[in-house]
Amino acid sequence: MDNFIIHGGRTVSGEVKISGSKNAALPILAATMLTREKCEIKNVPDLMDIKSTFELLNYMGKRCFFGFNTFTVHETSGLKHHAPYDLVRKMRASMLVAGPLLARFKKVRFSLPGGCSIGVRPIDIHLEAFKKMGAAVSYEGGDVILTAARLRPARLKFRFPSVGATENLMMCASLLKGTTVLENCAREPEIEDLARALVKMGASVEGAGTSLIRISGVDELKGLKYEVMPDRIETGTFMLAAAAAGGTLKLLNTDIALMKPVARALKKAGVKITSEKGSITITSSGGRPKPVNIATKPHPGFPTDLQAPWMAFMARAKGSCEVHEAIFENRFMHAAELMRMGADITVTDRKAVIRGVERLLGAPVMASDIRAGAALIVAAVAAKGKSIIRRIYHIDRGYEKIENKLRLSGVRIERVKA
Ligand code: UD1
Repeated sequence: MDNFIIHGGRTVSGEVKISGSKNAALPILAATMLTREKCEIKNVPDLMDIKSTFELLNYMGKRCFFGFNTFTVHETSGLKHHAPYDLVRKMRASMLVAGPLLARFKKVRFSLPGGCSIGVRPIDIHLEAFKKMGAAVSYEGGDVILTAARLRPARLKFRFPSVGATENLMMCASLLKGTTVLENCAREPEIEDLARALVKMGASVEGAGTSLIRISGVDELKGLKYEVMPDRIETGTFMLAAAAAGGTLKLLNTDIALMKPVARALKKAGVKITSEKGSITITSSGGRPKPVNIATKPHPGFPTDLQAPWMAFMARAKGSCEVHEAIFENRFMHAAELMRMGADITVTDRKAVIRGVERLLGAPVMASDIRAGAALIVAAVAAKGKSIIRRIYHIDRGYEKIENKLRLSGVRIERVKA
């Protein structure tokens, strides 16, 4: 297992190229299961979750190649219908193959993903929706089995705008002749990216990015050539690192339109943000920010995936502020680690109160999930002295070459064997 050692207190300045979006790439790669034809997806970030998807698709019978951020998928023989525990437990998003496989083969079996450090994460919304389309649900040996003699297009309303359920159902409906109408859909930009990919494959998808999506499916979908959108969570993490440590950082290959709630909160905190087509520049003195309350919400609200890095930034606020976590029930594990670095935070249920401190001090800390790990990086670059971040395999799941990008921005960071 590797650790990061970061010597904080230097500015984060220069230029960083933002990678393709992990959360857009994962469903688009799952969508390649919808077609027999070759798919070529560009701007795919080289990170652990993509390697897990590579393993999963290969296991299911696809032939994948991945290099230079291009992921190619071929189909040469029949596909399996079973996503086993060993692959699904590594990455919850593995269950995104359920929609495509159910649509193609009327049968799919996948391991129940189980909970993780940020919450219970049930899959009832996915299953309810599949049932409405005619699937029967049964359980065996920790797996869910979905079968359908015939799937039918449906009009259905999600009880909560789940990102994964919206994606799974969009993919399933794309290969189903007739019109499916999904209400109370997630509106995240990654859903729009998936919709663009499905349209290129031959489906008709209207309304992605709004809460009502109408999909007119077809009997067969074509192969796909596609370039994944920029990663807005990576963009936000770098914005927060520069805001916390100080410096002028230009982020390339990204888009300010994806960053509205975060940019708004950063500006309120006193950070200067400018943008041009395809780039965002952050300028921060590295002084103590103004305290700003945030509450995570489904898009277009403040993204839960940036809540932890935001808390790291607010740890040095000039005053007190609150963070409300409305999406996941247990997403404050980073608070205790930030307190090891001198932060003053009280967590009650889904609310954290942060009383800003003059400075953070480097310390040995531990990442508990991808974004908690990102928060520790934001804190460590702004802290005085040396931090050791353990369990960085979580960070490697979601951030491509993060130490190289930080080093190029002036951060003293090393990856060392534990
Ligand atoms: C996706 C993102 C993740 C992000 C999350 C919320 C990917 C690969 N991951 O995860 O980074 O944090 O959106 O923006 O895109 N829920 C249920 N029942 C369900 C499904 C979800 O109760 O059937 C609950 C979850 O437990 C959670 C909330 O709904 O509390 C949001 O989950 P969801 O939007 O489905 O997130 P994911 O698609 O898993």
